[in-house]
Amino acid sequence: MGTISLKNISKSFGSTEVLKDLSVDIKDGEFLTLVGPSGCGKSTLLRIIAGLEQQTSGDVLIDNKNVNKIRASERDLAMVFQSYALYPHLSVRRNLETPLRLRDYNSFERLPLIGNLSPNKKQKTESINQLVSKTSETLKISELLDRKPGQLSGGQRQRVALGRAMVREPVAFLMDEPLSNLDAALRVHMRSELSELHSSLKTTFVYVTHDQAEALTMSSRMAVMIDGNLLQLDTPQEVYDNPSSLSVAQFVGSPKINIFKGSSDSSGTVNLLNLNLKRKSSETNLELNIGIRPEHLEISNQSDEDTFSAKVSYRENLGSDIFFHVNTEDGMNRIIVRGIPQLTHEISNGSTVNIKRAPNKALLFNQEGKRVQFNNA
Ligand SMILES: Nc1ncnc2c1ncn2[C@@H]1O[C@H](COP(=O)(O)OP(=O)(O)OP(=O)(O)O)[C@@H](O)[C@H]1O
Ligand SMILES: [Mg+2]
Repeated sequence: MGTISLKNISKSFGSTEVLKDLSVDIKDGEFLTLVGPSGCGKSTLLRIIAGLEQQTSGDVLIDNKNVNKIRASERDLAMVFQSYALYPHLSVRRNLETPLRLRDYNSFERLPLIGNLSPNKKQKTESINQLVSKTSETLKISELLDRKPGQLSGGQRQRVALGRAMVREPVAFLMDEPLSNLDAALRVHMRSELSELHSSLKTTFVYVTHDQAEALTMSSRMAVMIDGNLLQLDTPQEVYDNPSSLSVAQFVGSPKINIFKGSSDSSGTVNLLNLNLKRKSSETNLELNIGIRPEHLEISNQSDEDTFSAKVSYRENLGSDIFFHVNTEDGMNRIIVRGIPQLTHEISNGSTVNIKRAPNKALLFNQEGKRVQFNNA
C-alpha cells in the first residue's frame, strides 16, 4: 500500500503563509506531480509529507495512519533530491548499500572486522547484496558499481540516487526536481526512464517540478499549485483541455495559451475582434478573457467570417513546427499561432495573414480569472 492523504495542510514561516489549506488524496501506485511556478510551495509540501518540515495545521496520513508525530526516518518514504546527495568518497555499490546497512545491521554488526563475528551478519549481508544487484539491474547500473560518483555522468548519478532510494523498498517515492541538473536532451530521456520505472515498480511517486512539460508527460494526475493554493487536481489531459482558471490555463501549455479581450452581449453571444463565436456564454453582459491555444488557430489563405487578420512580427522555426507571433489589427492582442512548415514557408516577418480559429475550442474566463462555461442549452 502507498496512499498519502493531506488534509487541510497550512504552513506559515513567521507571518508568511506559504501553503493555504491544501487537501490532496494520493492513490496507491499513482504518479502524482506537484507543479507550479517557483516559490508556490511545492518543496515545502513535499518536505511536510516526508516529515522534514512540520505543518502549521492539518494532517498527513500514510496508509490511513496519521503520521503528524512520526519522524521522517520512520515514515518509510524515500526522498530523491535535485542534488543527488551521493557520498562522493564511496563507490556506487557502497552508496546503494548504506541505507540498508543502517537499517539492517545493529550497532555491533556495523563495527569493522569484529562486527563480522555476529552470527546474523552473514545472512543480512547476503540479503543486502541481493537487493543491491536487483536494483542495479533494474536501473542498468550494474557495470558502474565499483566507480565513484565523480566518475559518472549526470544521468548515471541520477540513476544511482534513485537506486539508493529504491533499495529500501519504500511505500512511496518523493522526488524534488530530480532532473533539473541534467541537460535538456538527457532530461527528456530520463522522463521516459522514470515513467518506465514507475510502471515496473508500481509504487506511489510524488514528483515536484516547476516544468509543466514534465508534469504533462509523466504523471497520472497533476496538482497545479499557485501561491500556496491548490488550483486544480486532474489528469494532464483534463488540466490542459479544461483548466479551472485563467492562471492554470496560462501555466500549462507551451507556447502559452492566447488570451483575447472579448465580451458577451445581452443574449450571451460571445464576440472577440470581429468574430462571433456563435456560442453563448452562460453569463450575459460580461467582459471576458477568451483563451485559445496556439494549435487551435491556423494561418488560412481565405478570409471569411471565421478569420481575422493580423501582422506577423516574429517567425519562430522549431523544425517540426513553426510558431508565428502576430499582432491583431486593432493592436490589442499579440498572439501565437502554429503553422505547418510546408504550407507557410513563404510567410515572413511583416506579412499580413488571415487567422482561422478551430470551432468550439475557446475557453472563457471572467475578469477575475474564473472559468465561465458556454451555455449548452
Ligand atoms: N525555511 C524557510 N523560512 C522562510 N521561508 C521559507 C522557508 N522555506 C521556504 N520558504 C518560502 O516559502 C515559499 C515556498 O517555498 P518552496 O521552496 O516550497 O517553493 P517551491 O515551489 O519549491 O519553489 P521552486 O520551484 O523555486 O523550488 C517561498 O516563498 C520561500 O521563500
Ligand atoms: Mg522547490
